[in-house]
Amino acid sequence: MDVNKELSSRASQIEEVIYSYLPDEKNGYQKTVLEAMNYSVKAGGKRIRPILMNETYKLFGGKSKAIEPLAAAIEMIHTYSLVHDDLPAMDNDMLRRGKPTTHAKFGEAMGILAGDALLNYAFETGLKAMDVDPDNQAVYKALQILAKKAGIYGMIGGQVVDVESEKQQNISKDKLDFIYELKTGALIEASMMIGALLGGATDQEVSKIELVAKKVGLAFQIQDDILDVIGDQETLGKPIGSDEENQKATYVVYEGIEKSKKDVENLTRDAIDILNDLPYENEFLKELLMWLVMRDK
Ligand code: IPE
Ligand code: IPE
Ligand code: MG
Ligand code: MG
Ligand code: MG
Repeated sequence: MDVNKELSSRASQIEEVIYSYLPDEKNGYQKTVLEAMNYSVKAGGKRIRPILMNETYKLFGGKSKAIEPLAAAIEMIHTYSLVHDDLPAMDNDMLRRGKPTTHAKFGEAMGILAGDALLNYAFETGLKAMDVDPDNQAVYKALQILAKKAGIYGMIGGQVVDVESEKQQNISKDKLDFIYELKTGALIEASMMIGALLGGATDQEVSKIELVAKKVGLAFQIQDDILDVIGDQETLGKPIGSDEENQKATYVVYEGIEKSKKDVENLTRDAIDILNDLPYENEFLKELLMWLVMRDK
């Protein structure tokens, strides 16, 4: 299997779905914020979260279109998290997905508002899954997961501790794990859990998928930190050395680069082992997890 080729074809398919839910930026006095939203989402990105959602959905045999608004919603929430993460008060970065960050292009106020707008619009969009499949209790549960994993017990909670831990030399491993599991793990957990739920997984299976995603999320953020040190700005589409500049408490600082690389591999292997225990098969999903270990962007 040519994973790169498969991944780019899946990314294009999912982009078509995401774009179909974006607001029409032509009309209304508020059109600046609509342009800023669309600019941020359309700038590119790997689309890993909606792809993971859709592949987990397929793993459990899902076929309905109810997954589509939820796939669009998770990418909107992820994109908002990046728009706010890049703000001067947060990581203060000027390049994202190979383009000027949203605040760099539209100004700080519009950066804040475009992030807010994407978060709210994600729920306006995700709720449309209720119209597609009104009698499906799984859709309601999926929306609950989306809300919780994006919030104070999820991504936002992790970002809070990330920011508070800047310039702190001796943060505990426990706190570091907390940051990673929440700021990055939570949205990856939501992606895979929602795919599983809508695909018809049992509660026990959804818990297994949550554990898979937790490991994938941790590996994903460690790899992100590694790339912040040894990556190439052109390929990554975002600045190198941002973590060092902000004196972030990262896994790479804590464990060193070689141990970090090993941990990315081990966490991914653990995740694939759990998937292998399930009586279902999605070869591409496993290939994708392996690809994430080797990724250079
Ligand atoms: C970047 O996420 C932020 C992290 C949680 C590490 P991605 O690496 O998925 O960014 P895009 O969507 O491809 O731009
Ligand atoms: C961000 O982590 C995680 C989010 C929730 C946005 P980083 O701050 O390391 O992400 P990048 O490197 O800017 O993409
Ligand atoms: Mg950050
Ligand atoms: Mg950042
Ligand atoms: Mg980073």
